[in-house]
Amino acid sequence: MRIVRAKDYQDMSEKAACMIAEQIRRKPDCVLGLATGSTPEGIYEKLTEWYRAGELDFARVTTVNLDEYRGLDSENVHSYYHYMKEKLFSRVNLRQERTFVPDGMEPDSGRACREYDGIIASVGGVDLQLLGLGHNGHIGFNEPGTDFETRTHCVDLTESTVRANRRFFASMDEVPRQACTMGIGTIMQAAEIVMAVSGEDKAEVLRNAVCGPVTIMLPASVLQLHRNVTVIADEAALSLVGHGGRVS
Ligand code: GLP
Repeated sequence: MRIVRAKDYQDMSEKAACMIAEQIRRKPDCVLGLATGSTPEGIYEKLTEWYRAGELDFARVTTVNLDEYRGLDSENVHSYYHYMKEKLFSRVNLRQERTFVPDGMEPDSGRACREYDGIIASVGGVDLQLLGLGHNGHIGFNEPGTDFETRTHCVDLTESTVRANRRFFASMDEVPRQACTMGIGTIMQAAEIVMAVSGEDKAEVLRNAVCGPVTIMLPASVLQLHRNVTVIADEAALSLVGHGGRVS
């Protein structure tokens, strides 16, 4: 696991965006696994900036997102599809039919999840997966206790995740209680993983994820077992991790 220490949020965003841009230049028809949340916003901003400057071309890129709330359609402003459209899809030359987000509206959630795994397989798997880190150590919406072998599945969100997501909604009642997420097994199949982390409030969970034992009670700790992971985090998030560059 490689740890890249960024000065601040801006620097973290630029460094993570650089890795994605390099992936696109190396393989113009690559498959990017994308994440939502506040952390990647600056990364999408940078990618958009480079696209507008003519330095990056998404014409042949495919994207598969990590997760989606259950019960929110793509037009709902709180859906992750809507987030992606606002922050990236509509701002660069990605082809809409090459952007995939789990279907949170399919009544048969098991079927929606199986189909999503089918999509990931049919595009040849993920070349580079971008991840954020939840305060309880979740990746995607894989909450503590999730088996490391899981494929795309439907989850009940923990109370702490529902509370953390509250800031995006008008009231607690509106926050979805369920989501469809790539499983940990799905995420671990990506050829390369980049996890972006920012802020002092993530310092403890980040330390435990990269230096602590690998345990299903802290889903991000599984990344210690992946052969090609880069954690890009700012000083605040890395304040409890010693300098050194490489953890395992
Ligand atoms: C949500 C998303 C995750 C994301 C996490 C952290 O739960 N499903 O993919 O990594 O939040 O979000 P933030 O970056 O806003 O702290």
